[in-house]
Amino acid sequence: MINDIKIIVADDATQFGVMVAERISEVLTDIAAPIMLLPTGSTPRSTYQALAQSSMDSKINWPEATIFALDEYLGIAADDSRSFRAQLWAEVAIPLGLAPHQLITPNGMTGDPEAEAQRYEAEITKHSPIPLAVVGVGRNGHIAFNEPGIDFSVPTHVATLAIETRQDNASAFANSLLPTRAITVGLATLESVNTIILIAQGGHKAPAITALLRGEIDHNWPVTALVRHRNLSIILDQECFESLKL
Ligand code: GLP
Repeated sequence: MINDIKIIVADDATQFGVMVAERISEVLTDIAAPIMLLPTGSTPRSTYQALAQSSMDSKINWPEATIFALDEYLGIAADDSRSFRAQLWAEVAIPLGLAPHQLITPNGMTGDPEAEAQRYEAEITKHSPIPLAVVGVGRNGHIAFNEPGIDFSVPTHVATLAIETRQDNASAFANSLLPTRAITVGLATLESVNTIILIAQGGHKAPAITALLRGEIDHNWPVTALVRHRNLSIILDQECFESLKL
């Protein structure tokens, strides 16, 4: 525990995924219709594999589950493999046998992004309180696509991606096509979720986790919005943990 925040450190990548999956299971067990906000990116992949491997004897009621994506690129269609919907569909929904209506994502092709962000927030709020959000973190401290400088009281909104974020996510795109904007749940949206599991792997994520563990709100590090959350667990790999500067 550091500043009342529970930290779990995994020895290796496989154990990391299993530990996150077990924590997800603990939170969602015995919920008749579990609802969760889930991230994309490379960090959650081992978790999604572990969830799929344990799905037969899982205590999570997957047939009645609803998954909301944390965010979605603007200008990328749902059936484009680079969309976050496509990632969550391939990595979570298919392995767990979910139907399309069980995966809810913002419409990245909307003609009115602001209205779509409001619609998405309303959809999440309809299911409030949401039992669980799993969130990754960018090396600049973004969570979902809440970039440095964002007002912590903002709900789901249209985000302009920071330059570091665009660089980090460029590998999935030919550079000219990398989106500049996205729809993201807000830090206020995340604050209302009952339990948050923050996951990070690698030394490059250590500055963001260090900022959070200092225990003070810092608008340059959006991840520090989580210091005021009442039920936060952090799961790190060894490399990230050893690179923390506390
Ligand atoms: C992306 C996503 C975040 C994710 C983060 C880290 O931009 N919007 O939800 O947590 O970057 O990604 P990765 O796990 O690939 O490092």
